[in-house]
Amino acid sequence: MIATVWSTEFIDLVYLLAAVCFIIALKGLSSPKQARNGNLLAAAAATVAVAATFFNPEAEFSHHTTNLVLAIVAMVIGAVIAVPVARMVKMTAMPQLVAIFNGVGGGAAALISIVVFLQHSQLPSKPAVYTIAEGLLGLLIGCVSFSGSAIAFAKLQELMTGRPITYPAQQVINGLFGVAIVGLAVATLLTGSVTLMIVTAVLSLVLGVIFVLPIGGADVPVLISLLNSFTGLAVAASGFTLNNNLLIIAGTLVGASGLLLTRLMSKAMGRSLANVLFSAFGSVVTAGGGADGTGETRQVKTGTAEDIGVLLAYARKVAIIPGYGLAVAQAQHTVRELADLLKARGVEVFFAIHPVAGRMPGHMNVLLAEANVPYDELKEMDEANPEMSTCDVALVVGANDTVNPAAKNTPGSPIYGMPIINADEAGAVIFLKRSMRPGFAGIDNDLLFDEKTTLLFGDAKDTLSKLVKAVEQA
Ligand code: TAP
Repeated sequence: MIATVWSTEFIDLVYLLAAVCFIIALKGLSSPKQARNGNLLAAAAATVAVAATFFNPEAEFSHHTTNLVLAIVAMVIGAVIAVPVARMVKMTAMPQLVAIFNGVGGGAAALISIVVFLQHSQLPSKPAVYTIAEGLLGLLIGCVSFSGSAIAFAKLQELMTGRPITYPAQQVINGLFGVAIVGLAVATLLTGSVTLMIVTAVLSLVLGVIFVLPIGGADVPVLISLLNSFTGLAVAASGFTLNNNLLIIAGTLVGASGLLLTRLMSKAMGRSLANVLFSAFGSVVTAGGGADGTGETRQVKTGTAEDIGVLLAYARKVAIIPGYGLAVAQAQHTVRELADLLKARGVEVFFAIHPVAGRMPGHMNVLLAEANVPYDELKEMDEANPEMSTCDVALVVGANDTVNPAAKNTPGSPIYGMPIINADEAGAVIFLKRSMRPGFAGIDNDLLFDEKTTLLFGDAKDTLSKLVKAVEQA
């Protein structure tokens, strides 16, 4: 009955509209102002498309009530787990949440391939080669994405070491696995053998693990973006397997946008994608990290909140450079309070945003938007850098690598070539951090020892609150 009202053409029209909404949503996501609307539009379009699928006369649901019930039960279980997790997750733990969601997507694509492959193996005649090829593509990429994302999650959640895990001939071994998987996939394609398909799936899971092991924690967000792109491709392959146009389009959009984001992130770190994936970046820590008793002997200049408050209150122009520590301290509201206070005193204030500050793309933008910092006060790196030499003070709040001059001045440094915010060009530099520990790249920052630099140790929320009081009293 339902099938006669809802024709395949009508369902495809709904899918087409949903796909158009996805593209508009992606455009919205590229600007902080429109990101929320973009997200809502994409969510609404996905909801309508999923609902329409239940009325699709070609879907399995139309013929098997058991499948319909199973699908609904699975969706309810998924929602009961995912909604509270997504609501409660801390901003700093967002990359691992994306990793796990992404892995689940890849795993789902792989499972679809396995189920369809098993169904086909019951048929009297072998399915067309292209049908097996589509399924195998979803299986291979989905398995790599699933197990790779699981390891990425474990690294970011500190369930295992975040440092690169390396061993001799690692890339050769990975390459051999890749070749073996392609060989097995071709053999499966030719024979339609279920056993070969299962061996291919298992080896792909192993490849996902060994591919991610040598990638250091600092590079994992880039990896997640790449794995996200893989999941998109696996889902697009599932779309071919299930003859579902929306999955093909949505999967391709995710695949392409994930790849573009991966490129952008690598570029913002001044490194090639190959370097991110294969150089085991972060295996060597070169920082002394003196204040926590690990060897650095050079002196740093520390100040009191009162002195720094006076410096800020009587400055003409202040650049605030936020980093990962701002997110850890959840000090976005306090930093806004400080900025507002300074502006009320006639100080020109702007936030200088490095593209990879924090642990995920747009991390600082999202954090500061949460505290309602006006968008026109946020300057991206290219816009901020020409102004840095005109600032009296650069206030570095929980940032380190993204202001480290070694990226410009020290050819041997692991971050050499990474574009940075030129905090060193400001008249005075203030660092708010808890200790002398290095940033994510694990390397010393000479700017901490510069004579125009003053450090105020402590949790950023606490030190910023003290600065607010000091500016009020100045
Ligand atoms: P980091 O270089 O990681 O430095 C963070 C600083 O915050 C540290 O100096 C830390 O020092 C301080 N900190 C931590 N918790 C704090 C707290 N509660 N209060 C005050 N300070 C605190 O951060 P960044 O400058 O934002 O650079 C980001 C790094 O991540 C770069 O190396 C980048 O390449 C990497 N990365 C980012 C991304 C994306 S997309 N954002 C992707 C991949 C890699 P203490 O421990 O002494 O307090």
